[in-house]
Amino acid sequence: MPSIDPAGLPLDQKVSLLSGRDFWTTKPVEAAGIPPIVLTDGPHGIRLQRDGTDHLGFYDSLPATCLPPAVAVGSSWDVEVARRLGAAVGREARVLGVTVVLGPGVNIKRSPLCGRNFEYYSEDPLLTGMLGAAHVRGLQAQGVGASVKHFAANNQETDRMRVSADVDERTLREIYLAAFERIVTETRPATVMAAYNRINGTPASQHRWLLTDVLRGEWGFTGVVVSDWGGVNDRVAALAAGLDLQMPGTGGASDAEIVRAVRAGALDEAHVDAGARRVAALSGLVAEAGGELPVDEHHALARELATDCVVLLRNIGGVLPLARPSCIAVIGDLATSPRFQGGGSSRINPTRVDIPLDAIRALGESVTYARGYAADGTDDDQEAEAEAGSSDGSERGHGHGHDDREASLAQAVRIAAAADVAIVFAGIDKETEGVDREHIDLPAEQVALIRAVAAAAPRTVVVLAGGGVVSLEGWHDEVDAILAGWLLGQAAGGAIADVLFGVANPSGHLAETIPLRLADAPSYLNFPGEAGHVRYGEGVMVGYRGYQTVERTVRYPFGHGLSYTTFTTDALEVSLTGDNTATAHVTATNTGDRAGRHVIQVYVATAAGPVRRPVRELRAFKKITLRPGETRTVDLDLDRRAFTYYDIELRRWVVAPGDYTIQVGENAAHIVAERTITLTGDSGHRPLSLDSPFGDWLHHPVVGPQLRRSLGGGMTEQSRKALEQNPDLLESISSMPIRQVLSMGGTSFRDEELARLMELSR
Ligand code: BGC
Repeated sequence: MPSIDPAGLPLDQKVSLLSGRDFWTTKPVEAAGIPPIVLTDGPHGIRLQRDGTDHLGFYDSLPATCLPPAVAVGSSWDVEVARRLGAAVGREARVLGVTVVLGPGVNIKRSPLCGRNFEYYSEDPLLTGMLGAAHVRGLQAQGVGASVKHFAANNQETDRMRVSADVDERTLREIYLAAFERIVTETRPATVMAAYNRINGTPASQHRWLLTDVLRGEWGFTGVVVSDWGGVNDRVAALAAGLDLQMPGTGGASDAEIVRAVRAGALDEAHVDAGARRVAALSGLVAEAGGELPVDEHHALARELATDCVVLLRNIGGVLPLARPSCIAVIGDLATSPRFQGGGSSRINPTRVDIPLDAIRALGESVTYARGYAADGTDDDQEAEAEAGSSDGSERGHGHGHDDREASLAQAVRIAAAADVAIVFAGIDKETEGVDREHIDLPAEQVALIRAVAAAAPRTVVVLAGGGVVSLEGWHDEVDAILAGWLLGQAAGGAIADVLFGVANPSGHLAETIPLRLADAPSYLNFPGEAGHVRYGEGVMVGYRGYQTVERTVRYPFGHGLSYTTFTTDALEVSLTGDNTATAHVTATNTGDRAGRHVIQVYVATAAGPVRRPVRELRAFKKITLRPGETRTVDLDLDRRAFTYYDIELRRWVVAPGDYTIQVGENAAHIVAERTITLTGDSGHRPLSLDSPFGDWLHHPVVGPQLRRSLGGGMTEQSRKALEQNPDLLESISSMPIRQVLSMGGTSFRDEELARLMELSR
């Protein structure tokens, strides 16, 4: 910790703390005992660069364990997976001398096309927030700091450094800020990273409401707000808005701007003092630099955690786990060149990589292989030739011109026909930071391969790799089983083999809906925007909230995931624990013959309140382990927030009085038990003004009766008659602002009387 208060330092020295010395370190102030600290990516491993430095992963970094990226962790629905992963990253950070690890990324998957969805957990803010909080807890328990990113509404890569996310406040609060709010209020992260994009026209890095009013004022954040790398437009405005640390450094240029602004009286020095104190306080975190990475231990951990993330989407006739002994045909380039992480700033230089084919051979008896297609859509002929006819019994394809493609397909079909079961490894070509995807389809060559193999093999299993949703249309019904393997980190190969052979029982569930068509996605018409703006026109109806509310049929709903055993929910009881809080008691049984992990998903459905509510929203979940035949009752608390919406007029979270149905779902589309409770809701009405609708005045519990009396007294004879003949008149003008109602005459109302009633409504 600093030996003296940094605010007491000369202006230029304290300002020097507010930007980086270089790409990854802050500046020291020796006189004050403030050392430089290292901040680096993140989130699912350490990307520490020694020589060339960049924020897109072009240059190498030191080896570190590549744990499962967030897309996988999201599918685990398991806070322990996130916590243990965070702890492992924290431990490696200490060994490598890193003080702050940039992550977790907790942006919401608004569109299946976002090129960075592989770095984010889910389309749901509760799942995202719970996992992100667990990651931060695990990481920070090691003494290093987290950087929760990208704050906020960074939901696309297209034009990411300029685009304005135009989003209404209710949507922002309920969907896009909620995970940040939970993490900040529950775990006190060391830093929060401001996003590149604008929000409603203002750059996130200069957004005072976001960085100061909400983050610090409402949520009590005391740590450092750091810029995304290169994400500051106006340094002085950013500091005034609450952005403490600019990264990377600008060679002193932006420090000089701050000094000039303070000297010119354009910037209050108090901003410099506050920022310098916060940055200096980061030196209280631990960075040890030295010792050995626990390479074997963390590789084993990466494998174990990855098995919890795999989602078994389909398993007709129990084709999985693989019967033993069986003759297995493994097909696809991704079985030998696995995709296990995305590109860009989170690209880790792995300590080792499990090859799926090798891992399958290690567990299986009779395994043949054909390459089938060239991943990436490109091919290096030399490499392909070197591989062709390899001596390990595999049949490899040649290059991938038309004839070669035909030959590869024929080889694949041949080994598929001779096997008991064919396993096709398929997946998205590549995903990388900075670029959104254009569609969600598998490469046509892979689809053709899957269909040809499925026609030839007795049973076919497809293992999908990819950091985002992949369409299953055009081949889904032709295969027996589908495993969503996401990007699982460096031990992906081993983890997939474990699941295929039943060494591990799959327990992942979708954290993101798989639609039938991309065009069904709620954000479809408003993604990625145009002319520098992206309108969040679907509002809170993001992901399953949208699909389910408009009753759109999807291929697999949010929350879907199978197991090698079966579970039933036998009972749901709900007890009220306060005015607007409840506990759901859910009893679940493992009805199959092997141990398994079950995710209890509790949704709340309501139409209460003056806003459009999604048909249901995930409000609690818990992953439990059950032995065959075991029954357990689990209590899931539904706090006040589980019933609220954000009221933009009242500027607060409101529980509307009314009915709330607590639902236990196998997924967001399939509810297996429900109970309805009635909540008294929050008391209080919105204050009345001359612009308030007449109906609000009439129905206000205190003002309404008085208004009716006064109206009666002040009415002309003609109005009284009209009202007698048409008693619905009052209701029919109820949506008119009272100002207009009164201006039409028919009643004499004194201004003082109106003012008195408005005061009464407060
Ligand atoms: C990314 C951040 C990352 C930073 C540093 C930026 O391009 O958006 O997520 O932490 O680079 O590499």
